Amino acid sequence: MSTIDSVLTETRVFQPPAELVKQANISGMAAYKALYEEAERDFEGFWGRLARETLQWSKPFTKVLDESNAPFYKWFEDGELNVSYNCLDVHLTNGNADKVAIIFESDDGKTTKVTYRELHARVCRFANGIKALGYKKGDRSIIYMPMSIEAVVAMQACARLGITHSVVFGGFSAKSLQERIVDVGASFIITADEQVRGGRTIPLKPAVEEAIAMGGCEAVKKVIVYRRTGGNVPWVEGRDLWMHDVEQGQPDTCEPVQVGAEHPLFVLYTSGSTGKPKGVQHSSGGYLLWAALTMKWTFDIKPTDVYWCTADVGWVTGHTYITYGPLAVGATQIVFEGVPTYPNAGRFWEIIQKHKATIFYTAPTAIRSLIKAAEASPDHHPKKYDLSSLRIIGSVGEPINPEAWVWYYTNVGGERCPIVDTWWQTETGGHMITPLPGVTGLKPGSCTLPLPGIFAAIVDETGADVELGKGGFLVVKRPWPAMIRTIWGDPERFKKSYYPEELGGKYYLAGDGANRDADGYFWIMGRIDDVLNVSGHRLGTMEVESALVAHPLVAEAAVVGRPDDVTGEAVVAFVVLKRARPDDAEAAEIAKELRNWVAKEIGPIAKPKEIRFGDNLPKTRSGKIMRRLLRVVAKGEAITQDVSTLENPAILEQLGKAL
Ligand code: WT7
Repeated sequence: MSTIDSVLTETRVFQPPAELVKQANISGMAAYKALYEEAERDFEGFWGRLARETLQWSKPFTKVLDESNAPFYKWFEDGELNVSYNCLDVHLTNGNADKVAIIFESDDGKTTKVTYRELHARVCRFANGIKALGYKKGDRSIIYMPMSIEAVVAMQACARLGITHSVVFGGFSAKSLQERIVDVGASFIITADEQVRGGRTIPLKPAVEEAIAMGGCEAVKKVIVYRRTGGNVPWVEGRDLWMHDVEQGQPDTCEPVQVGAEHPLFVLYTSGSTGKPKGVQHSSGGYLLWAALTMKWTFDIKPTDVYWCTADVGWVTGHTYITYGPLAVGATQIVFEGVPTYPNAGRFWEIIQKHKATIFYTAPTAIRSLIKAAEASPDHHPKKYDLSSLRIIGSVGEPINPEAWVWYYTNVGGERCPIVDTWWQTETGGHMITPLPGVTGLKPGSCTLPLPGIFAAIVDETGADVELGKGGFLVVKRPWPAMIRTIWGDPERFKKSYYPEELGGKYYLAGDGANRDADGYFWIMGRIDDVLNVSGHRLGTMEVESALVAHPLVAEAAVVGRPDDVTGEAVVAFVVLKRARPDDAEAAEIAKELRNWVAKEIGPIAKPKEIRFGDNLPKTRSGKIMRRLLRVVAKGEAITQDVSTLENPAILEQLGKAL
C-alpha cells in the first residue's frame, strides 16, 4: 500500500514521553547523533567497539571489515564465537539463569514457561542428540515447524553445532518445501506431526513426506518430528525419529562448536522479481551483533520487559526478533502459536493483558484486520482490555497507512507508547530505518531515520543522490555487519540483484522506492520491482505466474498487485486458457481450481484474490506483456496512458470487465 498521499504533507509529530526518554538506552536526539557521527568518523572503530562490547568471542577478531572482494564483504572474519553460547550460556552466570526466557501461549490458551537454565538444557540435549546422529558443522538442516518452544530449540541446537538451518514457513506447500530442501542441500529435516492454528490442525509431517517423494531429496537421511498433536502421520522406520526420543538420555550440557564470524548461521528463502526464491545467506558474528544491538536500540529492551513479537519463525522477523535477538539480550518473551482472531478478535489484547507485555511488535496487516474486527465486535476492542503494561509498540513488514497508525497509537498504545515503524528486509538481517523510542518524533507512516552506522540514501537511476523531496531508489551506501552475504549457491545473482552496475556497483539496492521530507525522514513507497507484499509476505509475481502456467489448462498468465484495505496488496491474475475463454459460470469453477492449484504449488498466501480470463494479454508489438496497464485494469480504473504501441489494445476492455 502506498503512503504516497501523506508524504511530505504530514504535519503531525508525536514526541516520545519524557519519562521514556530519560531512561532510554539511546536517550535524546543528541545521543543518537553522537552515535551516528561516531560511525561516520571512524566506521570500523565504531563497529569493532560494538562487536567487542555486545558479544562474547571465543577468539577475538583482529580486523573489523574486509572490503577486498566487495560486494562480498567480510566482518570480524578471524574472530570466532558460538551464537547459541551467546544466547544461552552467557545467561547462566549473569544472574538471568532463573529468569523466564519464553512464555509460550498455545492456540488454546495454555501457558508454558521456560527459564534460561531450562532452555539451555533443552537445547543442549537436543544438540547432543543431533550430534549422536552424526550431524556436524557445515551440514544443512531444514526446519518446518509451528510456532513453539521446540522450534526455537531446534534453531538454537543447530546454531550450537555450527549446522546451517533453513526454516521453511509452515504455510508453504510441499512443493515449496521440496525446492528449498534441494537448493540448500539439507541432510536432515526437523518438523512436527501437525500444527494447530485457530482451533484447526494442519498437517506438517505429511507435507514433508510429499516433498521427499517429489525427488531430489536423497541427501535427507533423518526426519526428526516434534509431537505436537499426536495425530496420525506417515512414518518411515529407520529414517524418522521423534524429537523427544532424540533428546532422551542426552546430557544437559553440550560443548558449543566455535565457528568463524562469517560461518553461515542460516539461509532463508525469499522472493525476488525473477526466477525461484533466493536463499539469503546470513553470517554468525555480524548477524548476531545486529540482532542484539537493535533489541537494545529500537526496542529499548530492559531487564524487566516482557517482549512480544507476533511474527512466525518462518520469516526473518521470527529469526532476528524471536530466536536470536531477544535471547542474546536475556529478555523474557512471549511466543504465540495461534492467530489474532481465535477464539475471538481480542486475542492479542488478552495476551498482552494476561502476561503484562511491555513491548509489542506486529504487522500493519494484523492491525488493519483487527480494526475491522473491533468495529464489528466492540467487546473485543482493545479499549476493553488493560493494556497499561505496554510502553513501546512496533510495526513491520510493509508501509503502515496513517489511519492504521493513529488507531494503533491511540487504542493500543494509549497515546503514550512510541510506535517503532521498522523498515528492513530479509536481506538486511535486522532493522535499518526506524524511530528510536527515546529519540525520534514520530510521523504516522514514516519509518523516520536510519540507525547509527546505517548509511541509507535515496538515489536516481544513475546512482546520484536526489534532493530531499524527490523520490528515488532506496540504497545503503556502506556495508553493515548483518547484511546478506550472498545468495546460497548463486553469487552472481547476489551481485546483480543487490549491487547492480547501473548504480555503480557500490551501493546496496533495497528494491524499494522511497522519499525524504524536509526533516530528512524516510517514507517508503513500496517495491520498485515485480515483488508484491501481501499481508507483509513477499511474493514474486513471476513465481505466481509460473505456478499458474504449470496448470494443464493455462496457456499464459500475468500477475499484478492491487491495493487492498487489509492485506496491503492483493494478487490479481490475468489468465489465458489453452481453450476458449470460459463463460461466467465456467470461469468461477476454473478460477476456484486455479486458486487451489496455486496454494498447492506455493502456499495459501499466494492464492490470487481475483482471476480474470481473457482471449489474450495486452502486449507490445515485440510481445512484452504490459503489466503496468494490467495494474490499472486490476484497480478498475480507466486507462489514461497511451496504448497505441499495443498489439491488441481492445483486449484491455475485455480484461477490465470483472466477472
Ligand atoms: C520488504 C521486505 C522486514 C522483515 C519482514 C519483511 C517492506 C518492510 C517495512 C516498513 C515499509 C516495509 C519493504 C521491504 N517493508 N518493513 N516498516 N515500511 N515497508 O521482510 O519479506 O524481506 O520484505 O517489506 O518493501 O523491501 P521481507
